[in-house]
Amino acid sequence: MTPDGDSPHGRITRRRLLGAGAAGGLVVAGFAGGRATAPESPDPEQQTVPFEGAHQAGIVTPAQNRLHFASFDLTIEGRADLRQLLVDWTEAGRRMVRGEPAGPENSAPLLPPEDTGEAVGLGPANLTVTFGLGPGIFDKRFGLAGQRPEQLEDLPPLPGDELERNISDGDLCVQACADDPQVAFHAVRNLTKIAQGRAVMRWCQLGFGRTAKTGAEQETPRNLMGFKDGTNNILNDDQAALDDFVWAGEEGPEWMRGGSYLVTRRIRMMIEPWDRTFLREQEDVFGRAKESGAPLGESKENDPVDLDATGPDGRPLIRIDAHIRQAAPSVNGGQRILRRGYSFTDGFDTVRGQLDAGLFFICFQRDPRKQFVPIQERLGQNDSLNEYIVHTGSALFAVPPGVSGSSGFIGEGLF
Ligand code: HEM
Repeated sequence: MTPDGDSPHGRITRRRLLGAGAAGGLVVAGFAGGRATAPESPDPEQQTVPFEGAHQAGIVTPAQNRLHFASFDLTIEGRADLRQLLVDWTEAGRRMVRGEPAGPENSAPLLPPEDTGEAVGLGPANLTVTFGLGPGIFDKRFGLAGQRPEQLEDLPPLPGDELERNISDGDLCVQACADDPQVAFHAVRNLTKIAQGRAVMRWCQLGFGRTAKTGAEQETPRNLMGFKDGTNNILNDDQAALDDFVWAGEEGPEWMRGGSYLVTRRIRMMIEPWDRTFLREQEDVFGRAKESGAPLGESKENDPVDLDATGPDGRPLIRIDAHIRQAAPSVNGGQRILRRGYSFTDGFDTVRGQLDAGLFFICFQRDPRKQFVPIQERLGQNDSLNEYIVHTGSALFAVPPGVSGSSGFIGEGLF
């Protein structure tokens, strides 16, 4: 270090921002009134998603390819401290989505750097940082009990659950999504560092590939079972469906309007038995063709699902226990959810002698009591997919609306 505190290797300032304006990076996935704008740059490493808006980014903004999701337990008590943590996280989130370091530059040799440094030289990579509040913040610690939304009712035990408590629940969550894994990792790491002394990480999950599309223009990806996933998802150009099924409205507290409720489920797949299953059976499990993604009996991915169609033998083409029949809005009181999950692998399970891999299922909705819970109650009992999966983690968070202007913070309406 030089006497004035500058590193001889050059000071950590901003990441490489090719052709960036004051906001840093090229804004490509902007939402005006919730609608996507067309991409302006083909290089995802240099693209940004705006932090500010009516809704938090990372819900209907086009799903990126990488995830780092983290859940935290608060170690503080008191409303003012919780408020300050949310202020600090919001400020760091704002900076990082622009491709800037998490905190102001600090080259003092006798202090830890404000930013951990591993994203220096990387672009913003479409980073979104989405914050959620777990049921725990409405217990007696913070004097917020009277403001708990009814919609944030603890999830009931669900059929087939094999949940591990150490990878479930939490007081706060951060969902960092980006098109560069190190950018997503960096975001969570720095938010964890900022929270030191106030919150500790309870569990986290890396996801390496999106398993849903949320942007109308996005390709449908495949999950680890090899099937196209996200075909019938709610997309960001369907404003009526977003209003009906995703954004919290007048049915709940004012501070949540424009927010949403997030459910995560870590779903492990029994990949080896699946890989020994005949193609016909695999397709019957989902009710869709493996290669094209078309509903059985149809030829194209986006052909409508006809649950009444029968074959020459009079039997339903889409089996009674098929995943898309049991998850269909028509058998779930018309309810839908917005899915935004990721494939994961956490290495090799030496006890079972199998890969520990699957789907980190994430969904957003207006009221989990009417949406995720009844759908999963039905799936947990009737879905033929259950033979090949097990739910090992679960969490529920209220995701407050977005912030407008440069001074607001996430969850402000609660204080
Ligand atoms: C490892 C677990 C799972 C896998 C591999 C999986 C895979 C799929 C696939 C391939 C489709 C068909 C394509 C599409 O429309 O996206 C689908 C549809 C769907 N899934 Fe799942 N899914 C899983 C878990 C769940 C869970 C836990 C829920 C909710 C509780 C759920 C809800 C839905 C819904 C609502 C649809 C759309 C049904 C329709 O409207 O046609 N899935 N899923």
